[in-house]
Amino acid sequence: MDSSSQWRFSATSGMLFAPRPSKLRWNSTSTSSTDNRALRDRLLASKRSQIAFQGGVPVFPHGPPPWPLQDDAIRRALQAALDDGSWAQYRGRHDEHLVRSLAALHENREFRLCATGTVAVELALRGLLVGSGDEVVVAAYDFAGNFRAITTVGATPVLIDIEPSSYSLDASLLAEVVSEKTRAIVVSHLHGGLADMPAIRGFADEHGIAVVEDACQAPGAMVAGRRAGCWGDVGVLSFGGSKLLSAGRGGAIHSAHAEVMQRIRIYSEQGNDAYAMSELQAAVLLPQVEQLDERNRRRAKAAQRLATLFKKEDWMSTLDGRARGEPAYYKFVLRPTAKLSSVDRETLIAALRAEGIEVGPGFRGFLNRSSRRCRKPTELPRAELAAQETILLHHPILLEDEPTIALLAETLDEVCAALSI
Ligand SMILES: Cc1ncc(COP(=O)(O)O)c(C=O)c1O
Repeated sequence: MDSSSQWRFSATSGMLFAPRPSKLRWNSTSTSSTDNRALRDRLLASKRSQIAFQGGVPVFPHGPPPWPLQDDAIRRALQAALDDGSWAQYRGRHDEHLVRSLAALHENREFRLCATGTVAVELALRGLLVGSGDEVVVAAYDFAGNFRAITTVGATPVLIDIEPSSYSLDASLLAEVVSEKTRAIVVSHLHGGLADMPAIRGFADEHGIAVVEDACQAPGAMVAGRRAGCWGDVGVLSFGGSKLLSAGRGGAIHSAHAEVMQRIRIYSEQGNDAYAMSELQAAVLLPQVEQLDERNRRRAKAAQRLATLFKKEDWMSTLDGRARGEPAYYKFVLRPTAKLSSVDRETLIAALRAEGIEVGPGFRGFLNRSSRRCRKPTELPRAELAAQETILLHHPILLEDEPTIALLAETLDEVCAALSI
């Protein structure tokens, strides 16, 4: 059956979207915007007096653009892997080629592919010999798997507050949270923000602490002149299904320290590579790595445009990572301002989803983790607020054209205004 005639379920948001007209075809550059706009114009010709949440017609009736894009380069990669049989090999040319491409992008560091970004963080800590009795500093607002990776290796997470302007750990608080047991810092670039890597690197060097730099949400981003991940003793990437580089699953670890990579290799080789990524995954990632910089630029431009248009009414604030470099947008922060204090987050999310906009809540954070499982040397008010207030827009719409971004900004304003009454 033609997939375009089926209702579409988005695992990221839990939303169900109307079938697309069968004439819609996807490729790497054109997306749903034209069709969404045409449909919307027709629907709105009858004048929309209510937002979709209150019974009006949705502005994006087909929902958000699907991800991954149906890309000819990916189709060719899959066909080539089928034709040469490499799809069924343990290890082959795609794997090697991907390692070389990723290394070329990341200061020629040594790379190892692995099963997921979550496993990559754990392997990074193992490679750095972090274990029982050690402490690892991690932001109190971060991906849950990072807390888990620290406890899995037997170490204790030490929570640190975030900078609201970047959602990453606040480097100026490091001196307050470290102890003589601190062995590593895990720092993530989140939601289009960039961590203050020069400050974190400087502190770590001064105190003999290792840094794991998590660029799972920001592959290809530039931080103070270097690729995200390269400031860390170990950098990690994710190729999970919704990510900017997608292979359904997958991850990578990279480092300039040969002995760290050697330890990761030895740990991973448990009769066979216990955390391996497949040849087929590597094959579909290769064209995406080539497209990464160009797509990151397009997403950043759209994010900037959206922030500028949306800022005028001051309903929600966003992040601007540009002061620290060139951000990559896996998520785009929409954080309600005081003007929206009468509206709860769940209602806002439901109302935006009703318009066909793919949004969800941010991370829960680790504030409620028991003090038996982690150390909390300071108050964590900014992480707590971020966990309560953050709404995240999913990235695929950021590859749309300018009129669609303007329509998105307009719809965000309209929904906020309607709910705040
Ligand atoms: C900051 C961060 N680190 C790590 C991961 C884990 O990646 P994976 O889904 O490949 O395990 C994610 C996934 O969303 C993430 O956002």
